Amino acid sequence: MCGIVGYIGPKKAVPILIEGLSKLEYRGYDSAGVAILNEGKISVEKCKGRLAFLEERLKSNPLEGSIGIGHTRWATHGEPSDVNSHPHSNKDFTISVVHNGIIENYIKLKEWLTSIGYEFKTETDTEVLPHLLDYYYDGDLLKAVMQAVSKLDGSYALGIVCSNEPGKIIAVRKDSPLIVGKGNGENFIASDIPAVLPYTRDVYLLDNKEIAVLTKDNVEIYTTEGMKVNKEVFHVTWDAQSAEKGGYEHFMIKEIYEQPKALKDTMTSRIMADNDDIILDKIKITKEDLEKINRIYVIACGTAYHAGVVGKYVIEKLARIPVEVDFASEFRYRNPIIDSNTLMIVLSQSGETADTLAALRLGKENGARVIAITNVVGSSVAREASDVLYTWAGPEIAVASTKAYTTQLVAMYMIALHFGRLNGNVTLEQYREIRDEMLKLPEKAQAILEQKETIQKFAYAHHTNKDMFYLGRGLDFAVALEGALKIKEISYVHAEAYAAGELKHGTIALIEKGIPVIALATQDELFEKTISNIKEVVSRGAHVIAFAFEGNDDIAKVSDVAVYLPKTLPILAPVLSVIPLQLLAYYTAVERGCDVDKPRNLAKSVTVE
Ligand code: AGP
Repeated sequence: MCGIVGYIGPKKAVPILIEGLSKLEYRGYDSAGVAILNEGKISVEKCKGRLAFLEERLKSNPLEGSIGIGHTRWATHGEPSDVNSHPHSNKDFTISVVHNGIIENYIKLKEWLTSIGYEFKTETDTEVLPHLLDYYYDGDLLKAVMQAVSKLDGSYALGIVCSNEPGKIIAVRKDSPLIVGKGNGENFIASDIPAVLPYTRDVYLLDNKEIAVLTKDNVEIYTTEGMKVNKEVFHVTWDAQSAEKGGYEHFMIKEIYEQPKALKDTMTSRIMADNDDIILDKIKITKEDLEKINRIYVIACGTAYHAGVVGKYVIEKLARIPVEVDFASEFRYRNPIIDSNTLMIVLSQSGETADTLAALRLGKENGARVIAITNVVGSSVAREASDVLYTWAGPEIAVASTKAYTTQLVAMYMIALHFGRLNGNVTLEQYREIRDEMLKLPEKAQAILEQKETIQKFAYAHHTNKDMFYLGRGLDFAVALEGALKIKEISYVHAEAYAAGELKHGTIALIEKGIPVIALATQDELFEKTISNIKEVVSRGAHVIAFAFEGNDDIAKVSDVAVYLPKTLPILAPVLSVIPLQLLAYYTAVERGCDVDKPRNLAKSVTVE
């Protein structure tokens, strides 16, 4: 998704904008640009491709000035090209705009603006904005912004500069993220906090339909209706280092290795040894509330959806409440049955995924109570849900989600246990047993990371294969889904996850000599059955790597490579068994020479539907 930065202060703007944009690269982009305001004149440089191309251009055409806006674009309307890149400007270059989001009524606006004489140069929806601002501008940029945004349908985060008001940047948002960094004699705007962290830890998290007016010494915030807003400063406590690679070759492997800590942090002060209470922050569901709930929807996209699949198993097992899990993009259009007895749990690492947010809103409009599990404080999902449980995974930069997934699992376990305790389906003894095992997960995750060589060898041996199969039953199938997604998205190997018992109903026809099969066999009750399924593929020539708990030595008899996971309760297995699958995807992608952290065609935060 697009990234926005803006700077106003005493320093040269270009290096600050470029550095800020580089911190937003994780969002995915295909072009980049800046607009610099200097001596009453706006100059724009922009181009298709990586930020490095823009830097090259700026070397041959240096832009002086200490006020500017910058943008990385992830194309939605109009192909990636120099002309479609942001910033976009009005005809005489007195107004320039960067935008993240989609202006849904841009065609209508474009027709109207064209009919009154405005000329369009690009295929973008964004270009209506500088023209609309030009139309309304009569010497008061703030007023023009208010008038212009009142005409917009859709989502936007905007950074705006105007050469007639040279000491100012205006920022406004609706349904796309935007923050303001408050410095000392300098101020910033950005799509995300890491972009401003080298300069300040004090930020304003803009809410929907809020406008910030930045001068170098001041930030004023208004609603889009013109009411002054007194906003509290949010002080960022996490370290700028934690948003950088810290010695690892890629963010993804760093984030895989951060999982023991992320798991521990997510459990800290929520479940504790020698304390039988579960403290889930702002989730205020009482026994009486739970009694009224007759259905739970777990809604998310991608990896978060896969965490939701595990969530369904564990809530049904521990709390005995029926759970439906669905992709947000399907749920919102299938006229789901929702009422005040419905509970929704939405999962989103970024908290900004457009489909997940829309599903959340649909739930709320129809009376459901919505719990959000998210990793980003102050994200849209967090702000709009009825209750929030944060995963404390720290910033996740690699497009492929890893630590967000395992911490989402832990969040799901805590919610399931809480519900099970509230409605009496989980006895104190059962709770203690699961809690104590959960608290050991960080050290067990660490032990798995120490076995990386086995996985690395398997990846090396099979990285040229075009297809892979992931098999498992029950919770192992849920993890297989995530393992297959991981390898597809970063190494571009076609992979399918199959419920092991379902294979023989068609897909086994695809198993041939040498095909890698990744088999998960962590579920005691299903172990023998999974062993039979492994034998079925082995007899057709598959090369099998199998994962089971220590002590289940039979697995070595039926597979080519056996990997033993430290023993835990079968219900908790997903937290551990996914880790080797993340490593397998990572090492396969590295062997294949793929851009691990920024896989093709993907964005970290999918803020359009
Ligand atoms: C995971 O590796 C993905 N890149 C993707 O599926 C992601 O999980 C999905 O887009 C949902 O994102 P969210 O958790 O930020 O809502």
